[in-house]
Amino acid sequence: MKELDSLRQEFTAEIEKAKTSQDVEAIEIKYLGKKGPVQQLMPLLKNATPEERPLLGKQINDLKTEFSDTIEQKLAAFQSEEWNRQLEEETVDITIPGRRRYRGAKHLINTVLDEVIDIMIEMGFSVQYGPEIDTDYYNFKALNFPENHPAMDMQDTFYITDSVLLRTHTSNIQTRFMEGNKPPIRIIAPGRAYRNEDVNARSHVFFHQVEALYIDKDVNFSDLISTMEVFIHKLFDPSIKIKFRPSYFPFVEPGMEVDIHCMVCDGEGCPVCKHTGWLEVAGAGMVHPEVLKNGGIDPEEYSGYAWGIGIERLVMLKYGIHDIRIFTENDQRFLKQFV
Ligand code: PHE
Repeated sequence: MKELDSLRQEFTAEIEKAKTSQDVEAIEIKYLGKKGPVQQLMPLLKNATPEERPLLGKQINDLKTEFSDTIEQKLAAFQSEEWNRQLEEETVDITIPGRRRYRGAKHLINTVLDEVIDIMIEMGFSVQYGPEIDTDYYNFKALNFPENHPAMDMQDTFYITDSVLLRTHTSNIQTRFMEGNKPPIRIIAPGRAYRNEDVNARSHVFFHQVEALYIDKDVNFSDLISTMEVFIHKLFDPSIKIKFRPSYFPFVEPGMEVDIHCMVCDGEGCPVCKHTGWLEVAGAGMVHPEVLKNGGIDPEEYSGYAWGIGIERLVMLKYGIHDIRIFTENDQRFLKQFV
């Protein structure tokens, strides 16, 4: 009986110190396991007198039940405590106000660029991309810019090495494409171009252009004019006024510039149109025979036209934007207006 009592005390002291369900499980193994002290009490039965034996048996059994009941209770208590803690940790507070997420959107320049591309595809052109970093050969020489000719000064250029540069126009696609393809050629080349210019409301060091190149038998100047007109009317409105003005580019003959009526001020005169009521949006012309030759195309057999349209100008006109710099300032107040 004494042994039973001291075992009970020992057990009670230990179980009271248990702090986790693992502690309780360890105690269970220690006391009720096969080699535990309760099991070790069994030999006592053997030594007991026949009169004592039933009572002692009952006492041992009661002790066992007592231990396992206590263990069960403790275990249950710890477990529900642990589950509650876990629940608490994993609880989502659905009363916290949500955080607003901003979705990215296409930049206005790309929106208009895509519109231009769609119109040109509809007219039968396919899209090609030339490199933004190119050699002076494709950017200048192949395009009939004579070495050291003042025409080179028309475009102040970012050179990377003596002969490698950031293209100053998308026209670098012209001879590149002719070299690998036979007429009929009917492509556009959208992309960025770079010029080492002063940044102001109308011009920037980089901007976007869409080059068009059309080469086939009997392509003539009226093809150029009419295609350009259809394109501008589709992009803006059939009522828009267009002006073709003779101009010089070494890679076309004849060459011209294309102005459209300034919609920002409706021709009244504003900073966007330099107070002339007109805005130059493109250079164009009949591909120079030398350029065709450089591209491996016989100018006796084929002729073609090319144009390069400035996208920023078109966007400024279309949306009444007064300053080209705003496109690259990443000002959310501006960008969000076109989402
Ligand atoms: N590349 C010329 C420019 O950037 C534009 C142009 C393209 C002119 C094609 C004629 C033909 O100014």
